[in-house]
Amino acid sequence: MNTINKILLAIGLLASVVACKHSADTIGHNNDKISQRVDSLLNLMTLEEKIGQTVLFTSRWDVTGPVLREGEEDAIKTGKCGNIFNAHTVEYTRKLQELAVNETRLGIPLLFGYDVIHGHQTLTPISLGESASWDLKLIEKSARMAAREAAASGLHWTFAPMCDIGRDPRWGRVSEGAGEDTFLGEQIAAARVRGFQGNDLSQTNTILACVKHMAAYGASLAGRDYNSVDMSDRVLRETYLPPYKAAIDAGARTVMTSFNDLDGVPASANRYLLTDILRDEWGFDGMVVTDYTAINELIPHGVAKDEYEAGVLAMKAGVDMDMEGGVFMDHLKEAIENGEISEEELNNAVRNVLRLKFELGIMDDPFKYCNVVREREEVLSEKNRETAYEMAVASCVLLKNEANVLPLKKDEKVAVIGPLANSKRDLLGSWKAAGKPQAVEATILEAITTNAAKGKVHFVKGCDVNTEDRSGFSKAIQAAKNADKVVMVMGEKWNMSGEAACRTKLDLPGVQTDLISQIAQLNKPVILVYMTGRSMTIEKEVEAVDAVMNVWYPGTEGGRAVADLLYAKQIPSGKLTMTMPRNVGQIPIYYNYKNTGRPFNPEKPKDTYKSRYLDVENTPLFPFGYGLSYTTFAYSKLLLDKNTMNQGGELNITVDVTNTGDYDGSEVVQLYIRDHVASVTRPLKELKGFEKVFIRKGETKTIRFAITEDMLAFFRQDMSFGTEPGTFTVFVGADSDTQNQVEFTLLNQ
Ligand code: BGC
Repeated sequence: MNTINKILLAIGLLASVVACKHSADTIGHNNDKISQRVDSLLNLMTLEEKIGQTVLFTSRWDVTGPVLREGEEDAIKTGKCGNIFNAHTVEYTRKLQELAVNETRLGIPLLFGYDVIHGHQTLTPISLGESASWDLKLIEKSARMAAREAAASGLHWTFAPMCDIGRDPRWGRVSEGAGEDTFLGEQIAAARVRGFQGNDLSQTNTILACVKHMAAYGASLAGRDYNSVDMSDRVLRETYLPPYKAAIDAGARTVMTSFNDLDGVPASANRYLLTDILRDEWGFDGMVVTDYTAINELIPHGVAKDEYEAGVLAMKAGVDMDMEGGVFMDHLKEAIENGEISEEELNNAVRNVLRLKFELGIMDDPFKYCNVVREREEVLSEKNRETAYEMAVASCVLLKNEANVLPLKKDEKVAVIGPLANSKRDLLGSWKAAGKPQAVEATILEAITTNAAKGKVHFVKGCDVNTEDRSGFSKAIQAAKNADKVVMVMGEKWNMSGEAACRTKLDLPGVQTDLISQIAQLNKPVILVYMTGRSMTIEKEVEAVDAVMNVWYPGTEGGRAVADLLYAKQIPSGKLTMTMPRNVGQIPIYYNYKNTGRPFNPEKPKDTYKSRYLDVENTPLFPFGYGLSYTTFAYSKLLLDKNTMNQGGELNITVDVTNTGDYDGSEVVQLYIRDHVASVTRPLKELKGFEKVFIRKGETKTIRFAITEDMLAFFRQDMSFGTEPGTFTVFVGADSDTQNQVEFTLLNQ
């Protein structure tokens, strides 16, 4: 008897609850029918088989293809490892699935996970870039596309979205998040979950989302990866937790712990985070997986003396699955036999894992994600490439455009200079999943060449990203002299941000700045196309050149997208989601800071004893929410329908936005609120609404926002969540610096 039949029969015998089809058993609900099936199966399982379901191992890839670490194939066959990550393609996942299904006693299928962060093989821009689109529908569409491709390659589960708030660009992983803002982070987290999971997990084109990293990983001290985090409960709850919660409220079925400790307790041993908040307060009924070997790391963290102790701490805290560490595999049995963990505690973890396998439908059909024809048609399809292109266009941020030096004209002679201009690999960014440089059809240089008239483009690399070699300067300078305009494609290489890629200097690496300044002296219009995974300190460069376009790592179709923007086939519409500092000393710098008791007044710069630096302004180089277009927008008629709000009430605010320039274009209209007096200090401004709106040239659109009482709520001095009456200012404008404002009062009734 084949093992699928084995398991079906076994479950069917124990409980007459097996209705093979459960496509209505969808997302996030403790579905009765599934719970019964889970419990029936659990009753059949030995202790060892249960423990196997809490184990997740990586498959290792080398140049010749995927190979499992020695012993892992056996671990699958013997039921010691019930889940695998870093394996994909239908062929390979089928091969591993067959081991689990055919060779283990109960034939419980494996769950296949992978870091599908910004696309699977068709890559969209890095997540920070996507966030700069401020386009929630498009972000959802991008995640949907990634899910379709990943699922078509045999995957069930992505380790995304990363919902860590990033206020410190030294931390390389800001590239994987949605920037510095909590409200925007919440919206984007939810959009990504909707995209990955769709509304029916049993469909073969949806995958499980994983909210990571719980919690506050983005606040690692001094921007150094894996470092400690220490913050007040107020900041944790107000700033860092809401995006994880928003993702869970959107139905995310799994959560990953973070590497850091928080208030002295590493996340993977942190019961306050994983049980009190996640399960008891938020009602999460999905599965908690650790980050890579995070249980083992409880030892160097200094809270466990050995793996045994680490395993006990992790399970007691609320961990269900051990990623790669093998601690649960090696020590849970003994811990249960010693009575340090009850079998019921293990059962709960196993239930959380098995429930997902039922929800996906792989318990009924373990090979439902293994369709070679679908894989062939879906991966890198034209449709997916178009989504990647659309996303890349929407994510680029035009930071400067003096004298309208952009867009380029077809007939202009262009010198393209810079180490990143002709690179395919760099377009893909750090988490490229299964993406391959060969799938990139055009580099930025190649796409510029396609846009320009024949013979008008001359490329010179000029320098490397990160060496001191200046031998290419003279050729680059010569090319610039012969050109009408110079496009310099520079920044960080793909591996200079992302995990374990933190930096203390955020200037352009190597001799790139030197080359920019030498070329800027030629008095030719210079455009800097700036590739990055974080906010960098490029004040000098911005001053030296005429235009700057921040293109992040724009993905498989990024070359075409960037060139089309440079030639105005597309119009820039992205806006920063992370403040750009003037220098590293200003970090952490973000828009929603507090006033302090001694705020600096720029009109009285000589005042001493004010909250300021002696050597740099308080202001950033570019604020959160900032970005230009080739057209211009004017804001007028900011009107509130009432100037008082009752408790539980609502106000309406409208603003007219007119496209006053020469191109049709999109504007991100942003709404910020300030609470003037409260029982605790409040930020000077907080984003509470936004709308990306397309406006034709000459056209005016009236944008309306509703302001509800919950938008004014915060953690009061006693940590209760709610509002306090008083005066509020509403700002509506083009970025977080806007002073376009009106006031209202929240009444005490
Ligand atoms: C990262 C996670 C990732 C995991 C699996 C870890 O090092 O922190 O974000 O999902 O590896 O690849």
